[in-house]
Amino acid sequence: MGKKSLVSIDECSKEYILEILDCARRFEQEPNRKLLEGKVVATLFFEPSTRTRLSFETAVNRLGGRVIGFQDASTTSSTKGETLRDTILMVNNYADLIIMRHYLEGAAKYASEILSIPEFSRGVPVINAGDGANQHPSQTLLDIYSIWKTQGKLTDQVVTIVGDLKYGRAVHSLIAGLWHFNPTFHFIAPNELKLPDEQKSFCDEKGIQYYEHTEFTEEIINRSDILYMTRIQRERFTDMEVYERVKNVYVLKLDMLNGSKDNLRILHPLPRVTEIASDVDSSPKAYFIHQAGNGIFIRQAILCKALGINA
Ligand code: CP
Repeated sequence: MGKKSLVSIDECSKEYILEILDCARRFEQEPNRKLLEGKVVATLFFEPSTRTRLSFETAVNRLGGRVIGFQDASTTSSTKGETLRDTILMVNNYADLIIMRHYLEGAAKYASEILSIPEFSRGVPVINAGDGANQHPSQTLLDIYSIWKTQGKLTDQVVTIVGDLKYGRAVHSLIAGLWHFNPTFHFIAPNELKLPDEQKSFCDEKGIQYYEHTEFTEEIINRSDILYMTRIQRERFTDMEVYERVKNVYVLKLDMLNGSKDNLRILHPLPRVTEIASDVDSSPKAYFIHQAGNGIFIRQAILCKALGINA
């Protein structure tokens, strides 16, 4: 098995996704296996993170590897004007794998392209931990794992996605990741945050059934297997008046679940702000905290796959 970057969910075949799920299941049964002994993993986070960073670091630690990195780019030489290219080339000298979150769309792809030039690179793979509003492939793999665990299957799910569909990188990746499994989507967003044409064209090309709504109704919840809530992301807005208008547009409350299917599960990539009321947490259908926990096993599988290690 060779080394391979994970930059976009678009490049993941159905076979790759199923292999990752199987591998994650093995890690869930036995998370402490010293498969990364002697390996150094670099975490380069140019944007804030709690879950992605800590679950990747937990994954490395449980596998016996070591982590270097920074979580605040203001403490690095990028503040002195060092380019992303030079930063990547330097870290390539130090680490066996790079996990990168960046505010620029395409940053992980750029890094993986630099590191594919043999004169510069030790063959260090890059894992995209979120690039602007573009992609968040490891989040999607843990979302799919969560669907698989809770529904017992991946095919023919009715998935309702609510909130910021314009800037939500987890949403964009999820649509691309689930298309292998014949989903039906309900997209609920205010007009200002509707799903971009690029993702709608993708659905059209792949023959995915989808419906767009601006109202968040119980009637749609009652038809759903998965209710995927998302945060309205203040940091992506250039016009704060628009943000103020839409920030509390949808709030899921416990009584809205009264007529929902028994198998409904509520997912959220987190962090949440106001879009899920705290009374929902007591529902057995609230799965978002477990979902984040699944990130460790999925990321153990992703790390091993990227480094060409049989797990
Ligand atoms: N879901 C997710 O990416 O969370 P963090 O921003 O905390 O990493």
